[in-house]
Amino acid sequence: FNVDWDVSAAEKGGYRHFMLKEIHEQPKAIKDTMTGRIAKDSDAIRLDDIKLTAEDLARFGKIFIVACGTAYHAGLAGKYLIEHLAKIPVEVDVASEFRYRNPLVDEKTLVIIISQSGETLDTFAALKEAKGKGARILSVVNVVGSSIARESHDVLYTWAGPEIAVASTKAYTTQIIALYEIALHMADLKGTLSKEAIKAIKDEMLNLPAKIEKALGNKEEIQKFASKNSGEKDVFFIGRGLDYAVALEGSLKLKEISYIHSDAYAAGELKHGPIALIEEGTVVIALMAQHELYEKMLSNVKEVKARGAYVFAIAKEGNREVETIADQTLYIPEVSDMLSPTVTVIPLQLLAYYMAVEKGCDVDMPRNLAKSVTVE
Ligand code: G6P
Repeated sequence: FNVDWDVSAAEKGGYRHFMLKEIHEQPKAIKDTMTGRIAKDSDAIRLDDIKLTAEDLARFGKIFIVACGTAYHAGLAGKYLIEHLAKIPVEVDVASEFRYRNPLVDEKTLVIIISQSGETLDTFAALKEAKGKGARILSVVNVVGSSIARESHDVLYTWAGPEIAVASTKAYTTQIIALYEIALHMADLKGTLSKEAIKAIKDEMLNLPAKIEKALGNKEEIQKFASKNSGEKDVFFIGRGLDYAVALEGSLKLKEISYIHSDAYAAGELKHGPIALIEEGTVVIALMAQHELYEKMLSNVKEVKARGAYVFAIAKEGNREVETIADQTLYIPEVSDMLSPTVTVIPLQLLAYYMAVEKGCDVDMPRNLAKSVTVE
């Protein structure tokens, strides 16, 4: 009788690993991150924790988003959302670069810091650097009362709950939800979106947990892929627009826990180098969740297929043409282009998970990595 084992099994709530448990907690985590902020019946976004005014926004010529790892990938999606909805230019930096490159930051700059732990040393140092130059600091943090939360002018918490697995999953999707909230709040303050448009986006956001639940139910194709491909040395992820941001995160998940080398490319860049690496059997995961870019992605899939790639396509229900070209296709529930990342990332998290399990890797505690990096 081993008490430790029993305790840890109980903490995993019946799942084999914390990562799998946390992947399945995403519908609830996302719902919690919207509670009190996004409501069906009111037309405004309620972000009581943030004291940004229309005058503040008029003053900010530019926004920087600064973070590390998975939080940085959420930031890449955030740039797209804020620029698209609130029409403010955004630059995204990894914290370890930002803090040493003497960024052009002053009182007219808003810096959005993203961190699950709120303790990452590089991110915290970047915050202090920007704050020292007079920037307004808004942070998106999961751990209440953490160092980053305490140093910030405004904090928008993600309500993901404790994340134990080193590879981040529910923190990422809730960070993206928080960034939608910020983007919508800014759009509301600036008047860049009509009340009806804001309401439509909010209604769709409220449906995201159900869509993610549906995406979680679809594991067969992923397990089939993992049992066939876990011996691979290299995997390529391609996507355009927001799918490119998600591809970077999918590639990071795979590296972190399965130790398989992988790269993510903006699909339009293939022809500028990476396509030289495609040969018979090279595995390419193609993200095709952006309606407007679907045709372009189809051409990219044809290009790599013509060179012998094994293509696993992730597309939205209804876009079936890719099925005739790709080797495997997985469908995710219909969702608008802008709201797709939290749904598209689900199969990629599961894919990294099942690849790591196939290889017998320590999923929750991958080698050389730490949950919270508090050293430089
Ligand atoms: C570590 C973790 C990653 C995480 C990154 C940033 O590298 O292993 O999963 O994305 O730190 O962490 P933070 O807590 O700042 O989001």
